[in-house]
Amino acid sequence: MVLRYAHLIGFAVLLGGAVVQYLSRPLRINPAMLWGSAIQLVTGIALAAPLRGDDPEPAPAKLVVKLVIAVLIAIMVWVPRKRPEVNQGHFAAIVGLTLVNAAVATFW
Ligand code: HEM
Repeated sequence: MVLRYAHLIGFAVLLGGAVVQYLSRPLRINPAMLWGSAIQLVTGIALAAPLRGDDPEPAPAKLVVKLVIAVLIAIMVWVPRKRPEVNQGHFAAIVGLTLVNAAVATFW
């Protein structure tokens, strides 16, 4: 429960950081995006641990997909974190993959 709460806050930090940066420009990686991405990896992996009592476990395939996407996002924010600006397509992909992971979490 606490982990899910932290996971949702990490999601808000990552997506919120990206949206604010997109609207205010330039298209660079800000600290909120770095922190949000790291929080999602840590809390997501912890959430995936089989410690949920009576709640059903999510399908392993779903967790693998989420992990792969989260690692991709982490690399995509980490590598160009010091660049003054990144390509629009790169930035859009970070936002898109974040939304895809939230969709996987919700609809799978
Ligand atoms: C950028 C990366 C990620 C985003 C945006 C994201 C987003 C979300 C969202 C929106 C939820 C819904 C929470 C709820 O329904 O209360 C969720 C739940 C969850 N996420 Fe993630 N997540 C990410 C990474 C990960 C990773 C890496 C893992 C682990 C491999 C993971 C495992 C889980 C689990 C176990 C749940 C609980 C929901 C369930 O039981 O199916 N997430 N995530």
